[in-house]
Amino acid sequence: MSFGIRVRDLTRVVFQLGNNWMTLAGAALTTSSAFVLIWFWFMEFTGSYQVNPYMGILLFVILPGLFLAGLALIPIGIWRVQRKAKLAGEAPMPLQAVDFKSPAVRHLLTIIGVLTFVNVSILGTAGMKGAEYMDSNQFCGLTCHTVMSPEYTAFLDSPHSRVGCAQCHIGHGAPALVRAKISGIRQIFAVTFGTYSRPIPSPVEHLRPARETCEQCHWPQKFTDNKLIFRTKYAEDEANTPSTSVLLLKIGGHTANGTTGIHGRHLDAMERISYVTTDARRQEIPKVIYRDDQGHPVEYVSDDFKNLPKEKLDKATTRQMDCVDCHNRPTHTFMLPDRALDKALAGNRMSAELPFLKKKAAELLKVDYPDQKTAAAKIPVELAEYYRTTYPEIFKQKRGQVDTAGEVVKSIYLHNVFPEMKLTWGTHPNNIGHEDSVGCFRCHDGSHTSADGRTIKGDCDTCHILLAQDEKDPKVLRDLGMK
Ligand code: HEC
Ligand code: HEC
Ligand code: HEC
Ligand code: HEC
Ligand code: HEC
Repeated sequence: MSFGIRVRDLTRVVFQLGNNWMTLAGAALTTSSAFVLIWFWFMEFTGSYQVNPYMGILLFVILPGLFLAGLALIPIGIWRVQRKAKLAGEAPMPLQAVDFKSPAVRHLLTIIGVLTFVNVSILGTAGMKGAEYMDSNQFCGLTCHTVMSPEYTAFLDSPHSRVGCAQCHIGHGAPALVRAKISGIRQIFAVTFGTYSRPIPSPVEHLRPARETCEQCHWPQKFTDNKLIFRTKYAEDEANTPSTSVLLLKIGGHTANGTTGIHGRHLDAMERISYVTTDARRQEIPKVIYRDDQGHPVEYVSDDFKNLPKEKLDKATTRQMDCVDCHNRPTHTFMLPDRALDKALAGNRMSAELPFLKKKAAELLKVDYPDQKTAAAKIPVELAEYYRTTYPEIFKQKRGQVDTAGEVVKSIYLHNVFPEMKLTWGTHPNNIGHEDSVGCFRCHDGSHTSADGRTIKGDCDTCHILLAQDEKDPKVLRDLGMK
């Protein structure tokens, strides 16, 4: 058979099979999306294109979807025409009269084989790149901008800003990935239709156990010893008077004498503690079950446990304690105005020389602004206005300091309050410590007692040695050469 006849045979088969709108549309869709995808991968490879989140959805989700849909349309179109012809009693289409020995058919099969290989390669690459992209911090943090803005803003500012969202929220292994993707699809709907909750509820109910996430990087056996921390607070008086506390935290861990201290006593090779909580935020803990060193369970029950109303008890849930019960804000840390201002003053990001700065700034932060934009516009202006009218001399001399303070107070607001997400001061309490929220005192309040009269201790030296408490000029800092 001459080459010309073969080509004619071949095109005849292809045309007869493909000559229906659905197959043609499918082929056009697949081919064009394949070209765009390949062009984009090339651009990305040569570094001439940076993906932004919305383009990301188009490139990693929508285009591969169109590619796949086109591929599916091709055989569906052929099948429809065949079925119609059969129903109408017409002559069978060429497929049914296929002669596998004919070179035309063999060529057709080769072409189909090559195309399938190309398609599978494109799909594989698209799938891999899509999965990789959907695990990126950028996708998690920015795609649904308003929704994730609080968590993403705090994350960027945290010790974990180089750790991926996925490493805490998904973790290792295929089942977790599949679960995350399914939940992701549900979330895309929630965002599209605006049905997500504001704020996003916390605690995250199905967060993976810390053992499988945090402990990939921080294993409990690693911590021992004490940790020295100091905190400087500023009073709301004219001089913003500072006072400093110095404490030695008994972090503990695994030692030759067994497990000790904050880390060692709650977590161990054996799961030591579970607790009963009666509110969705796990802030009320009326009962704690503790396994002592001999492995015997001890039940600590709070004074008011017996008087709990029945509807509260019915809502109670039991949970195994892990890292996240103390470190519930390891990366999305939201502060109260007081602490955020103290930190900014202590770090010298703004000047404590400005009279009443702490008081005025706290006032401005607590105003109920309708949105972040209004707050950002108002805070610096109002602070400057305060000094211009109340301390005109200082305003003239220290204009630069006033402006800097305005910017710092504004940024504190923007990091901690998100009216659009109904997230404000104290919405997400931090369980470390006991100053800004109940924290450790949920259990260590001295009122949780066992049947044999033991209590979960609440004395001040259980968890830390207070080397100085709210002192103007702590001697210990001078001894350490820090003053
Ligand atoms: C170091 C681990 C870690 C990283 C990294 C991390 N998260 Fe979280 N995330 C947590 C923990 C822990 C919680 C609170 C869990 C709880 O209390 O049950 C949380 C809670 C959340 C919540 C629920 C609302 C809230 O504030 O409690 C959202 C939404 C969230 N994270 C999004 C993100 C996004 C987006 C990223 C990446 C930009 C990210 N997370 C990175 C650990 C992490
Ligand atoms: C992929 C590794 C990784 C994972 C997973 C991870 N962390 Fe971290 N964590 C780090 C790194 C890196 C630092 C920063 C160390 C530094 O700055 O010295 C850090 C710091 C911390 C700190 C000290 C913060 C501070 O202010 O100094 C705490 C507490 C912490 N992580 C808790 C957690 C908890 C709780 C989880 C699980 C929800 C977790 N981490 C998951 C890597 C990780
Ligand atoms: C009972 C509460 C509690 C539990 C449970 C707990 N921690 Fe901590 N952890 C603390 C406290 C308190 C500190 C000191 C906080 C500070 O530095 O201000 C701390 C400090 C840390 C630090 C910083 C250590 C340093 O030297 O700066 C890391 C990292 C850490 N924890 C990780 C973990 C991990 C991982 C887990 C789970 C295996 C865990 N923690 C369980 C209370 C807890
Ligand atoms: C869910 C309840 C619960 C929470 C929350 C909790 N603890 Fe504990 N803690 C216990 C129990 C139970 C014990 C063991 C009591 C015993 O020895 O019988 C314990 C023991 C300790 C010990 C050892 C005391 C000793 O006698 O050596 C320290 C230190 C400690 N906790 C610190 C903390 C700190 C710091 C926090 C907050 C960051 C905290 N705990 C939060 C339940 C809790
Ligand atoms: C169950 C453990 C525990 C007990 C009991 C406890 N503390 Fe603390 N305390 C902590 C932890 C943990 C921190 C550090 C929090 C942090 O790193 O932000 C802290 C921080 C502090 C600070 C620093 C202030 C600040 O801004 O965070 C002071 C002051 C303090 N404690 C005083 C006391 C006094 C006084 C008592 C006795 C009434 C007491 N604590 C009992 C665990 C405890």
